[in-house]
Amino acid sequence: KRKLCIDVDVGVDDAQGLMLVLAHPDAHIVGISAVHGNVDVARVGRNIARVLTLCGRTELPFYLGADEPLVPPAAAVDDASFFHGKDGLGDVPEAVPASSHIELQAQPGHGALQLARAAQEHEGELTVVATGPLTNVALACKMDAQFPHRVGRLVVMGGAEGAGNVTPCAEYNFHCDAESAHLVMCKFPQLVLVSWNATVRHALPWCWVDAWLGKPTRKAAFMRAIMAASMALEKERDADAGWIACDPLAFALAVCDEALLAAEPKHCVVELQGSLTRGMSVFQEPGGEAALPANVLLVTDICMQRFQALMDAATD
Ligand code: BDR
Ligand code: CA
Repeated sequence: KRKLCIDVDVGVDDAQGLMLVLAHPDAHIVGISAVHGNVDVARVGRNIARVLTLCGRTELPFYLGADEPLVPPAAAVDDASFFHGKDGLGDVPEAVPASSHIELQAQPGHGALQLARAAQEHEGELTVVATGPLTNVALACKMDAQFPHRVGRLVVMGGAEGAGNVTPCAEYNFHCDAESAHLVMCKFPQLVLVSWNATVRHALPWCWVDAWLGKPTRKAAFMRAIMAASMALEKERDADAGWIACDPLAFALAVCDEALLAAEPKHCVVELQGSLTRGMSVFQEPGGEAALPANVLLVTDICMQRFQALMDAATD
């Protein structure tokens, strides 16, 4: 089985990614940590509890982590509630399991501490998948300098190769905590990066989504409810573009090696200074005179048939 630590800012698409791994027979989930981002960290914790309850996995431990970026930004960064809903899950509190019925609580202790501890306990064997701002992962790097070397594999959803989705240059997760993204790029020998633009290129036909959402199951009904508002926004923006499944794609790569068809080694740094470019991920060819390390494997091609099968299982 594959040992996994999951760091999320649930979030409609984080919830879908969680459902994907919770349904995967080979995933052994060591722990889940909540990070600020789409909504505040307490709310993220409640959303994790709701998804675990939905999936009948209330035995899994989850922890609250960072409630703000590493360095408080000069100007407040907006959360993403316009897209994910004020509660982060589409503002459908009555959808089963209803928010008011969730009793599951976070474990004591900080999410970053749990990440650092898990990497020590499962040295070399742990896959970490991070689909929110990288604050917890950065804190774990600070707590234990060996953390980046103890983690077997880090899969991150974040960054942009072209236009971002928050600013012309920056993607949401990197923009939300640019310093943490920068730190993680500097400290990890190599991580798998699923950029915003890669997820746009791998947008799913709506007929696939309709097939999952139309199933007569509890999980399909929940997904249908939490997706309704954001799906309408997406279709309003571009009716034909399909569903951009940012976080589920990263989760798929974390549990299924065959889903990754191609990735390019790159040197990635994150812009911290620019008034227009803050949070931008800058990619360069590794090597050269400056001997730039290939610190990321930038995902270029994902097997959508595999992904389709994983999402299908997630809604059974
Ligand atoms: C990322 O931003 C968040 O709103 C999504 O959950 C995803 O992790 C996409 O840029
Ligand atoms: Ca997310």
